[in-house]
Amino acid sequence: MPDADSVAEGKKYGLDTPQKTEGYFLKGSCHLDWGMQDRLSRVFSPKSGKTVMLAFDHGYIMGPTTGLERIDLTIVPLLEYADCIMCTRGVLRSVVPPTYNKPVSLRYSAGSTILNDLNNECIMDIEEAVRLNASLLAVMVAIGDKKFEGLTIRNLTETIDLGMRHGIPTLGVTAVGKELVRDARYLSMASRVCAENGAHVIKTYFCSEGFEKVTASVPVPIVIAGGKKLPEPDALKMAYMAIDQGAAGVDMGRNVCQAECPVSMLKAIRAVVHDGEKPEKAYEMYQTLKSESK
Ligand code: 5RP
Repeated sequence: MPDADSVAEGKKYGLDTPQKTEGYFLKGSCHLDWGMQDRLSRVFSPKSGKTVMLAFDHGYIMGPTTGLERIDLTIVPLLEYADCIMCTRGVLRSVVPPTYNKPVSLRYSAGSTILNDLNNECIMDIEEAVRLNASLLAVMVAIGDKKFEGLTIRNLTETIDLGMRHGIPTLGVTAVGKELVRDARYLSMASRVCAENGAHVIKTYFCSEGFEKVTASVPVPIVIAGGKKLPEPDALKMAYMAIDQGAAGVDMGRNVCQAECPVSMLKAIRAVVHDGEKPEKAYEMYQTLKSESK
């Protein structure tokens, strides 16, 4: 039973101090509900406003990809250095220890592989995402795909509707069709379509010309995919340029797990993304860490 006297005599009303109305640090996210903002604050660091996501969901379309043949051996040692992990529910349940407590960008759409028409996808059950404590629902969106554009946009909007009911934000992942060019015009269109349809975060590719127009024309945070493995200095330079031109982070897979020393690479990427380290310095850091790890 609470003590009635102490309730009556409460004095700490701070009458001279108006209650603060905090803003929210992420672009386009200040009107979201508490659960959404809480989840986004787990994915993006409120201190730097950025994220280093580690993607290892490739197997859902490609099977055992180079560097990801044994996720228990290659990825689990990296988990502690990632801000968020992007993977399938299969790998999450079978290999990722829940004790790491990392926010999960759950691969939420699936349906085809590289052996067939990509992007012919459906989405999962939202209860499954809730059970798995997902912080983001990752859905492939194939703008410009003659067969499956409509289907993937419907998957996106349905996911957003379901996620909104449960306070889980959606990550629109822009797929690139075989005949589509990854230039600023296409990437800004694909990313903008995802944002207009309600995606809370967009994952797209970096382009060397006009990427600042992609980030400027999209009203929510953008994270870049790494794409095919590049030499380490080039991958660090790409991460640097993306952040410098307005990206809110990276969601890289192969450029980390196929690096000669993945842990050192992930640490060097973190220095670029969170501390604004120049790519040349970050590469020096990578080499030092790599030699120390031998
Ligand atoms: C596949 C994805 C992958 O997670 C993505 O491509 C990231 O990996 P990488 O950096 O290797 O490109 O979204 O649809």
